[in-house]
Amino acid sequence: MVQIDRLFNEINPKVGDFTFDENVARVFDDMISRSIPLYSDVQRLLPVLSGLLDHPVIKVVDLGCSTGTSLIHLARALPDRQFELIGVDNSQAMLTKCAEKLDALGLQDQIQLTQADIREFEIRDASIVLMNYTLQFVDLSSRSSLLARIRQSIRPGGFMLVSEKVSHHQPVMDEALVELYFEFKRRNGYSELEISRKRDALETVLVPLSVDGNQQLFEEAGFQEIELLLKWFNFATFIARVGGAESQ
Ligand SMILES: C[S@@+](CC[C@H](N)C(=O)[O-])C[C@H]1O[C@@H](n2cnc3c(N)ncnc32)[C@H](O)[C@@H]1O
Repeated sequence: MVQIDRLFNEINPKVGDFTFDENVARVFDDMISRSIPLYSDVQRLLPVLSGLLDHPVIKVVDLGCSTGTSLIHLARALPDRQFELIGVDNSQAMLTKCAEKLDALGLQDQIQLTQADIREFEIRDASIVLMNYTLQFVDLSSRSSLLARIRQSIRPGGFMLVSEKVSHHQPVMDEALVELYFEFKRRNGYSELEISRKRDALETVLVPLSVDGNQQLFEEAGFQEIELLLKWFNFATFIARVGGAESQ
């Protein structure tokens, strides 16, 4: 059962740096669906894009898989395609929650989970590397090398799909879009206190780049075809493809 996210409300006075611990894992599915605009649309994107690949077995590596929502969605959306599905996360609490969901859905044999730091995890021959709302938590100094390793691990014709919170160059614009985002959270039932406490907890932990800042990193990592697929105020989803013989 999905538990309601009340982590930052009045009853719970603890506010420190945001971590993906047991408390977050318990309410994560509710938190992310109320905190990330167009989250369910981003989930719908992956099966459509996977269906375009002609790899006989589609190997998907989800970096920062959390509770496995994307991989579960994919496994259920395209039951006729052959997949190898791997979820990687460094939080044991998130992976435990993920494993509980897989067991409940009878998908435990279809999705392999690994606890690892994505800055060190070795990926081989992936068709798709998925990194939704995770790169933003990786320290800036490690992002280039991580992306270069991801690029090297993707088979010809494959791609990386990345979603991120993004910043904007003009401070006035940045503030306006952040305010629109807070309005989104209010509409989803978060109080002013919850919004400001969560903002404080994420302050030093989540570091967004601009749309072009992200695109430049992807390009420098060696991705050839980079496109912004979705943009909602201060959130963006990119595809970065690897050309080659099997490219569609
Ligand atoms: C916002 S959540 C990702 C949401 C998920 N991709 C989804 O779409 O539902 C970020 C996840 O990345 C994980 N994470 C952050 N830094 C990591 C790192 N260096 N290595 C592995 N996992 C990391 C966190 O534990 C957390 O589960």
